[in-house]
Amino acid sequence: MDKLLLWMSVFTSLPSAFAETDLKWKVFVFPRESEIDHVKLTPHLEKPLQNFTLCFRTYSDLSRPHSLFSYSVKGRDNELLIYKERVGEYSLCIGHSKVTVHGREEHLSPTHLCTTWESSSGIAEFWVNGKPWVKKGLQRGYTVKTPPSIVLGQEQDAYGGGFQKAQSFVGEFTDLYMWDYVLTTQDIILAYRGSPVNANIIDWRALNYEINGYVVIRPRVWD
Ligand SMILES: *[C@@H]1O[C@H](CO)[C@@H](O)[C@H](O)[C@H]1NC(C)=O
Repeated sequence: MDKLLLWMSVFTSLPSAFAETDLKWKVFVFPRESEIDHVKLTPHLEKPLQNFTLCFRTYSDLSRPHSLFSYSVKGRDNELLIYKERVGEYSLCIGHSKVTVHGREEHLSPTHLCTTWESSSGIAEFWVNGKPWVKKGLQRGYTVKTPPSIVLGQEQDAYGGGFQKAQSFVGEFTDLYMWDYVLTTQDIILAYRGSPVNANIIDWRALNYEINGYVVIRPRVWD
C-alpha cells in the first residue's frame, strides 16, 4: 500500500473509533442470541453519580430474563444495571443492591423505559411508556462510581466482559439518553414522545459507540 492509501485507510477507520454519531431514527439490531455481540458506549462522565435518569426504547420478543443496560466499574460488576426479569417486571441494581418493580405492560410491543435514582432519598422510579410504576428505594446515600464500562446487549460479570448467553439482549434498541439528574415528569414525557431535553452523559444524537460482533444499525420502523 502506498503512503496516501495508507493514510486514507487510517482516516476512514477513525470515525468508528472516536466520532459521535447522530443515531436519531436508527436502531441497534441484536439479531441473534450470543455471548459475544454487544455495543460498548463511551459516556461523558467524570464525576461519580448522585442522581441519574436513563431512558431508552426496546423492541424484543424475548420472554426470558435479559440485560438492558449494564454499567460496571473495576471490582464491581453490577454498579448500575437495568434488567428485565420478565414481562411486567424489571430490576435495578446499584452498587450490587437490587430492587424489583412490577407493573402492567404489553408483551411483543415496543417499550419506552425511563429509570431514575436519587442518592439523597434512595428513591428509584421506573416509567414504562410514560407511566410511573410504584416507587422503590435502594442504596440511600450511595454514590455510583466511575469510570464505567457500559455495555448494551450483554450483562457484565466483570469489567467489560463475563457475558452469558442466557442474559443477552435480542431485539432492537434505540433512543438511549442519560442525565446526571432526576428528570421532571414533564421531561420524562418529552423523552417518551421522542423530544428529550439535552442529555449530558449519553446522547443518542451524538453517540460514541463501538460495535462488537453481530450488531447492525437499521432505520427505526416502529414507534
Ligand atoms: C442530587 O440531587 C439532590 C436533590 O435531589 C441535590 O441536592 C444534589 O445536589 C444532587 N447532586 C448532584 C451532584 O447534582
